[in-house]
Amino acid sequence: DKGNHRHFMEKEIYEQPEVMSHALSHYVDLADHVVKAEAMAIDFKPLRGLAISACGTAFLAGLIGKYWFERYARLPVEIDVASEFRYREMPLSPDQAALFISQSGETADTLASLRYCKDAGLKIGAIVNARESTIAREADAVFPILAGPEIGVASTKAFTCQLAVLASLAIAAGKARGVINDEEEKELVRHLAELPRIMSHVVNLIQPQMESLSRDLSKFKDVLYLGRGTSYPLALEGALKLKEISYIHAEGYAAGELKHGPIALIDENMPVIVIAPYDRFFEKTVSNMQEVAARGGRIIFVTDAKGAAASKLETMATIVLPDVAEIIAPMVFSLPIQLLAYHTAVFMGTDVDQPRNLAKSVTVE
Ligand code: F6R
Repeated sequence: DKGNHRHFMEKEIYEQPEVMSHALSHYVDLADHVVKAEAMAIDFKPLRGLAISACGTAFLAGLIGKYWFERYARLPVEIDVASEFRYREMPLSPDQAALFISQSGETADTLASLRYCKDAGLKIGAIVNARESTIAREADAVFPILAGPEIGVASTKAFTCQLAVLASLAIAAGKARGVINDEEEKELVRHLAELPRIMSHVVNLIQPQMESLSRDLSKFKDVLYLGRGTSYPLALEGALKLKEISYIHAEGYAAGELKHGPIALIDENMPVIVIAPYDRFFEKTVSNMQEVAARGGRIIFVTDAKGAAASKLETMATIVLPDVAEIIAPMVFSLPIQLLAYHTAVFMGTDVDQPRNLAKSVTVE
């Protein structure tokens, strides 16, 4: 049932504040601001490393998770798409654990990667939406994302709930490994606890602008997304979301890679969507944005209030989100990315919930 929404995808975008609070409350205490035992089902303390593997959007959630585990838990993360991971013949040792992320819990390549790690004697964690799935069954520890059924083929609420779980696990790991102290834990969990309220505010705040901007975006054949730090996987996710439902060719790049190739493509026919909250990477990303502007590129700037005040560059559009803590920025910045792809696809008249050639669950290699 789509309720009063035109598509399941739209319904699932709007459901995020609510399902986010289900996901979070399973792993963190939203009143006392501490991580719960559910986030510690893997013993992170003795680990020398963590391997993460997944496909598509779930892989991009894992890529953001890598930044968090390394930053908040000093835990080195090895990550790859499952179709490569399973064949890489990488050396693994039992002092590593492995995490697999899958909405359906049935993705063939992800399952094969899980079995590969299991054979190597690693402790296996599964971050899944479908708790009765094969991947959940074969894992030692199951971390449900509690997003509820996701019907739209393009993943939205599963992605942000996967991020909520990964952030909670990274905080739990940081605590277990003595990297973050009690005060830091409280501070980080307090930020997570604000997510449902902030996401609900943001989704309503930006909706009209995303709808009108989608009309402009639909006129282009190619779009480039740029980001740095955790905004880099978000740039990849933005490009994936746009291409799969609107069929507009889109690419995501690390902002610093611009001058190593894609800058050759910059002209007025390829808008560049720059994702840049006012974080420790902001100035660097803005200098990449200047390089785009200097070559006549059109910029769609996705930033926050501080970022908008700090940049004087002329843009095709500036999307201003509230200033939020660094650990929750990826979830908050997912919203404009999802809504822009959604409205562009609606405007172009594609089958938003069932894009051509795609399946919700990929059970063959
Ligand atoms: C993109 C999308 C896909 C899935 C991928 C993995 O919007 O939905 O990229 O994320 O096929 O699927 P799961 O998470 O079921 O393993």
